Amino acid sequence: ISSFVRHRTVHKVASPLAFVFDIDGVLIRGDNPLPAAKHALSILDGNNRFGIKIPYLLLTNGGGVSESARCHKLSQQLGMKIDPERFIQAHTVLKSVVHKYADLPVLVLGGKGNTLRKVAEGYGFKHVYTTLDILAWNRSVCPLHDHTVEEREPVKTVDFSKTCFAAIIVFHDPPNWFLDIQVMCDLIQSGGILDGPYQPKHMRKPVDLVFCNPDLVWKSDFDRPRLGQGAFKEAFQGVFKSLTGAPYPYTQFGKPTEATYKFAEQMLRGQLVENSSLDSVLWQQIDVALLDNPESDIAGANAARWKSILVRTGVYDPRQGPPSHRPTHEVEDVEQAVQLALEQEF
Ligand code: G3P
Ligand code: MG
Repeated sequence: ISSFVRHRTVHKVASPLAFVFDIDGVLIRGDNPLPAAKHALSILDGNNRFGIKIPYLLLTNGGGVSESARCHKLSQQLGMKIDPERFIQAHTVLKSVVHKYADLPVLVLGGKGNTLRKVAEGYGFKHVYTTLDILAWNRSVCPLHDHTVEEREPVKTVDFSKTCFAAIIVFHDPPNWFLDIQVMCDLIQSGGILDGPYQPKHMRKPVDLVFCNPDLVWKSDFDRPRLGQGAFKEAFQGVFKSLTGAPYPYTQFGKPTEATYKFAEQMLRGQLVENSSLDSVLWQQIDVALLDNPESDIAGANAARWKSILVRTGVYDPRQGPPSHRPTHEVEDVEQAVQLALEQEF
């Protein structure tokens, strides 16, 4: 039995080696699992020299559907059960702030309209609207929107001239930038009532603005990284500044923000891990994070004092020079990362 297990067993250290995995660019690209991903996860699932299940968490800036729906799809993609208790996505952290808006009208952006509405209602938001609801109320809100696209998602029938929005929450990467930026600019300048008069900055009721993923780019299955929610934020702020003279203040969640990492640690602490070779143990810390995006992933891991291993299968491309944030190690893929971490017994 190696020193690793003996040390953990004898001293009953309540924090076995625990991993955090990023998803896009580390485990999957688009809809396809990376070749190394299945073996890397099976090593942690017990196929290792310690003969024990080694705990891990998935932490992604992705989103747009419920945690259970995403985990169901990931389980199919990766060929093993991914438990929603081990999964945090961009907007999961909103569960910790829903109390601020639970009884107030909020506009949610990103993903498919009604699907996202159900995610928000599942967190406890009670008055959830989408920009497609707004179009159904008055399609002249955005004359440039492609109305030929039949929206398959059901909409809510509401008179938005009587609805005062408290917040705009960007859960996931929005697909309809023209419509969404138009509605965001209307709501903020009118103090929350869509067709209300634009008011001077010092007079208007503030509308809170929240983004859940700062990624300017992310790794899908195209050869080069693709624009993400961070690009949408830049586009909105550029338009809003041109209209009003200044960008609009907002709250940012998602990797690398501290709120998301604290939420992940809290989730781990609440997690009792039954492990066949060790007594039931309590996670108290992350030991190593396996990541592909230096700007969000490595920056966040460094700030959270997690050890990090940067893989070359995602956003980071060594041909473009060294990473903007220094990882603990750099390897080819996630399987090499898991093997290195277990050898080094971080
Ligand atoms: O929209 C998903 C993208 O921003 C990155 O996802 O898994 O690499 O954090 P992930
Ligand atoms: Mg990634």
